[in-house]
Amino acid sequence: MKSLIDILSDELRKAFEKAGYDTEYAKATVSNRPDLCEFQCNGAMALAKKYKKAPIMIAGDIKSNLDSEYICDLEAVAPGFLNFNINSGKLAEYIELMAADESFGIEKEREPKKIIIDYGGPNVAKPLHVGHLRSAIIGESVKRICRFMNNEVIGDIHLGDWGLQMGLIITELKLRKPELPYFDENYTGEYPSEAPFTISELEEIYPTASKKTKETVSGDDKTLTDAAVKYKAEAMEATFKLQNGDRGYRALWNHIMNVSVADLKKNYDTLSVDFDWWKGESTVQDDIEPMVEKMKSDGFAYESEGALVVDVAREDDSKEIPPCMILKSDGAALYTTTDLATLKQRRELVDPDEIIYVVDKRQDMHFVQVFRCAEKTGIVKEGTKLNFIGFGTMNGKDGKPFKTRDGGVMRLEYLLKDIQEEMFKKITGNHDIDESEAKEISKIVGLAAVKYGDLSNQATKDYIFDIDKFTSFEGNTGPYILYTIVRIKSILNKYKEMGGSDNTKLLKAESATEKALSLELTKLHPMMSTAYSELAPHKICAYIYDVANVFNSFYHENRILAEENKDRQGSFIELIKITMNVLLLCIDLLGFSAPEHM
Ligand code: ARG
Repeated sequence: MKSLIDILSDELRKAFEKAGYDTEYAKATVSNRPDLCEFQCNGAMALAKKYKKAPIMIAGDIKSNLDSEYICDLEAVAPGFLNFNINSGKLAEYIELMAADESFGIEKEREPKKIIIDYGGPNVAKPLHVGHLRSAIIGESVKRICRFMNNEVIGDIHLGDWGLQMGLIITELKLRKPELPYFDENYTGEYPSEAPFTISELEEIYPTASKKTKETVSGDDKTLTDAAVKYKAEAMEATFKLQNGDRGYRALWNHIMNVSVADLKKNYDTLSVDFDWWKGESTVQDDIEPMVEKMKSDGFAYESEGALVVDVAREDDSKEIPPCMILKSDGAALYTTTDLATLKQRRELVDPDEIIYVVDKRQDMHFVQVFRCAEKTGIVKEGTKLNFIGFGTMNGKDGKPFKTRDGGVMRLEYLLKDIQEEMFKKITGNHDIDESEAKEISKIVGLAAVKYGDLSNQATKDYIFDIDKFTSFEGNTGPYILYTIVRIKSILNKYKEMGGSDNTKLLKAESATEKALSLELTKLHPMMSTAYSELAPHKICAYIYDVANVFNSFYHENRILAEENKDRQGSFIELIKITMNVLLLCIDLLGFSAPEHM
């Protein structure tokens, strides 16, 4: 349905027309002086020059020509503003119309698109760390927003499952368990179906192996030991063998994948993040060679200092964009190559209209090169939108990238655990509550704390991960939003217990806070349209924070359950029901949910 602000602009337009003025500036805006009026129109000021007339005169003309059911208390004030309010009856009608529609009358995409969202991007066999948290949180929300707006959306995790880390793991395993058949080149039988390691072993193997390649000679922190050099060479050799189809290594790789993916699924599940595709870098390896050949024969790729590159710089570039490297001088494919092959595959599989990458903003240059190269070489067809949402770093209170107390990379699991424990303390400290119930609630609220803490910042900005702030029930936080929803749920339950009628109807607002809440709800439509066009979940956060605040003032100033006039009480109930439903829709788009109690 039309947004309220557009309806008001239409009403103004009629008056502008009748008064004989150009309607271009007949626009209603939310008042920046809410103490004076709810809405305003500054059109008369803009028209003064054209009509060589004092703006206040023009405003006066418009006022005398306005005849609207929606607009009331219209005043022309010096030097030429039009201040007005919305008719409370019409406002109530509008809210009832919103409430009658499952999506509150939000207008969806008229030409739905096929969109792939590339997010998450964890690296197999390496523990998930907080760096991957942002991609998962933001990507999930962007996915839900695009889907809600009627697009066909595919979320792809794009696993890092093909690099040196695989060679490192194989090398370390070979050292520990040389007797395994995977390392026996003469073995022709079937390989065991059971993996020769558990997830915890796997997670310990990778860091151990990685550390071994970095060992330096004592007293010198640059020169690697002979052992480190040898170990790294072996890992590279193992990676090469794996990538070239060694049977035993492929079988081991499958085990690594199965064990890791099962663990990743569990982790993403706790985050309420899920993917439609579990593809990865390995998925496209066979596409690389033909793609590179074509780039060469089409004359795009050429040799430069031994490497194969494609020029992607443009004349109007304000900074230097280096050529896009396709193959290293030793013939090895790169991160870039894989991303290009992935684009090719995605086109073949679903031919998307748009691909959105949610990745650390430090990879900005990588994506500029990949996008340009894909467009130039025809890997993507003309008109395919390639979109990079680069996010900032999650910092600790010291302003440096978030670390554990002992300075290590904080693992996602521990971070969530810390948050949940803090939530548990707060919830059990508030009132008497069954321990297992409190644990469940802490999980739900803890997730909201983390996600809201992240999403309420504009994605590109760095932000400080502050457990105390994020878990607070007051201020601009996830727990505050959930607390507000739970408060409404509890009023609705009590109303029901009191035998309140189901058949509630919204009446004209009588109090200022009641009207303010209604007005706030009507801002849902313009907000959603911006959040969608800008792919900006932080707009949803800012909106629901306002809704929660306005609701809480309404709640404190009106005695909903004690109201004696049943019709008025029913109207209050109707209003808070829709408030709750709007909040529930919004948090769902952000990727979290609300508990029944708290
Ligand atoms: N695995 C990569 C990393 O950890 C992120 C992948 C992002 N997606 C992509 N298509 N490049 O940095």
